Amino acid sequence: MFRRSGGKIDLPSVSPALARIIQITNSPDASAEQVAEVVMLDQSLATKVLRIANSAYYSRRVKAETITEAVVTLGFSSIRHLAASASVIDALFPKQMFPGFDWREMWSHSVTCAVGTEVIYARMSRMQGAESAFVAGLLHDVGKLIIARALPQRFLQVVDACREYNRPMELEEQALLSTNHAKIGGDLARSWQFPESLIEAILYHHSPEDSPKYEALARAVGAANMLAKRMSRSYLIGISNDISIEEITEHVGMSVEELEHITMVVRRRMGHCGDILAWGDAMPKAKRAA
Ligand SMILES: [Fe+2]
Ligand SMILES: [Fe+2]
Repeated sequence: MFRRSGGKIDLPSVSPALARIIQITNSPDASAEQVAEVVMLDQSLATKVLRIANSAYYSRRVKAETITEAVVTLGFSSIRHLAASASVIDALFPKQMFPGFDWREMWSHSVTCAVGTEVIYARMSRMQGAESAFVAGLLHDVGKLIIARALPQRFLQVVDACREYNRPMELEEQALLSTNHAKIGGDLARSWQFPESLIEAILYHHSPEDSPKYEALARAVGAANMLAKRMSRSYLIGISNDISIEEITEHVGMSVEELEHITMVVRRRMGHCGDILAWGDAMPKAKRAA
């Protein structure tokens, strides 16, 4: 599934089902039935869509019993994003274990970042690109999956270097690979024809000031990324997530009180994310020292 991208890293190609979903949900004339038909072609995706439509996270009063109802409940844009996320996770999450790296912990970090981005971005009251907020947070580190699958030995070197020098992954990636997971994730989002807001949010989550059109969204992802690190264990085993609340408030221009309130809301919403968090159960769990 990997193909040459012109550089050193191979980008996975988009699956025919996902390409069709992106195409059909982008079309103003598509009906819920047409979208449902495409989703139903992929059994694992159909199950995920139905479960998420009925999950506590969306807390709709009327339960969706068919995929068509789920499409109507969630809306085209959410379906496209969920379908894209589910396909990315199914296709890209490494089945392989890497010493010192815990994929399940990374998935939990990604879900926390997704919820955090949604809450922080809504708080910033910038509605442009808002429908991308959850997925932008969910997929912000997708570049790490691509590196791990395409260049497993290099990925291990990056993880080792992070441990040795206690520096963030993007810096070690840049030093060892002359690129980093944000750029690779942005390339993937572009090649899979994701919306511009999503491309920019992934590409600039560590450098929002460089984002030409969606700086606020990229900044929200960056802040949620830091918040997620504060709220959960590190997926780099043995390395602490040392981020102060002041570092986040400075990044996003909020008060400590506001951020503490956001943390509380995120924690509460995480309690409703069972179905999405459960996707991580199938991922390899690294051993931790007692
Ligand atoms: Fe990142
Ligand atoms: Fe992250």
